[in-house]
Amino acid sequence: MARLAVNIDHVATVRQARGIDEPDPVLAAGIAELAGADCIICHLREDRRHINDRDLALLRQTVKTKLNLEMAAVDEMIEIARNTGPELSTLVPEKREELTTEGGLDVKANPDQYGKVVERLRDKGIKVSFFIDPDPEQIEIAHKIGGEIVEIHTGHYSEARNESEAEERFVRIAKAVEIASGLGLSVSAGHGLNYVNVKRFKALPMIEEYSIGHSIIARAVLVGLDRAVREMIALVKDY
Ligand code: PXP
Repeated sequence: MARLAVNIDHVATVRQARGIDEPDPVLAAGIAELAGADCIICHLREDRRHINDRDLALLRQTVKTKLNLEMAAVDEMIEIARNTGPELSTLVPEKREELTTEGGLDVKANPDQYGKVVERLRDKGIKVSFFIDPDPEQIEIAHKIGGEIVEIHTGHYSEARNESEAEERFVRIAKAVEIASGLGLSVSAGHGLNYVNVKRFKALPMIEEYSIGHSIIARAVLVGLDRAVREMIALVKDY
């Protein structure tokens, strides 16, 4: 049975749109856990555009399952991770101008540097997950430099414009999962997965965990709207 890790960044995105203190991603994490989520993910970005340092500190105090800190492999974040102590850190490439993480990490470009990052995190008992494209070479290097987990980037699959493109990209993911699993890595998958395109993944039982954010928060807005409106009507109807 695969596990679900819920990314709560978008709750903070809504909060930041108003610059006030709600909705609170820390409360959202608690609700996700009560609903059965196996892990809470937050991405602390260099520009703090959604999750901020206060959120991370409170999440560390309140998350009872596992906390996965998604982050760029830069000194500032490595030190924050070492001081905070999430169960795992997912290393992602980060560009200031991007709307969301765009591609997998290029571990091949600098294996020594990433190997040192693994050591600095593992030294504090933090497991390292590499977010990488379904590319056998990247997977092998991630394994060689000490990564324990690879999260296979499913974003390109989720952006396929037709069925044959989706199938072709899914097959690429399936091969990558097989290679990663064969090397003894724990395998996760995520990015762009939603209530429709995730169904195909039933064919890949070697994927242990799914990291999903946008589609869950987007659905929460819609399935929760009916109740939210009714509650406000109940308040104003006798005015
Ligand atoms: N995995 C990683 C590494 C990500 O960067 C993201 C987006 O923050 C996700 C999973 C979740 O993607 P989505 O929000 O599209 O479900």
